[in-house]
Amino acid sequence: MAKLPILHFPDPRLRTKAKPVSVVDDAIRQLVKDMFETMYEAPGIGLAATQVNHHIRLVVIDITEDKSQPLVFINPEITPLTEDKAPYEEGCLSVPTVYDVVERPTRIKVNALNEQGEAFEMEVDGLLAVCLQHELDHLEGKLFVDYLSTLKRQRIKTKLQKLQKQQA
Ligand code: NI
Repeated sequence: MAKLPILHFPDPRLRTKAKPVSVVDDAIRQLVKDMFETMYEAPGIGLAATQVNHHIRLVVIDITEDKSQPLVFINPEITPLTEDKAPYEEGCLSVPTVYDVVERPTRIKVNALNEQGEAFEMEVDGLLAVCLQHELDHLEGKLFVDYLSTLKRQRIKTKLQKLQKQQA
């Protein structure tokens, strides 16, 4: 297994629209393993392939504190099951040190393939619903900061560019 480098906002590669996975093979399963390792070490609760510069429709999530529920979503499609939205303070491994409130539908249905290439369907709510919608946005080249005002996003960009210069 290998830890993968995570792209940081405003890296333009984060704006790439991911392509569907055509075959769930060993190469995909290896990437899934590497993404879990990267996410757990970060630490984070979700990671989209886009964030590690693989532009395919693949997301890994584990919202538990003891790493007990690793979930893999390949070619995921989501459908909101309610018009109710709730605010949640989101963060992102690609936007380090920044947290802000985003409103999203509270209950969704997801259809995806697992790492064996088998189709499954789940109805989710709570943190898992927030996380899934956040990660699916990544596959569209969208970040949670896109829901914030232009002024806020500009401030975040300046802050992160400063941080990246310090680390370089
Ligand atoms: Ni994110």
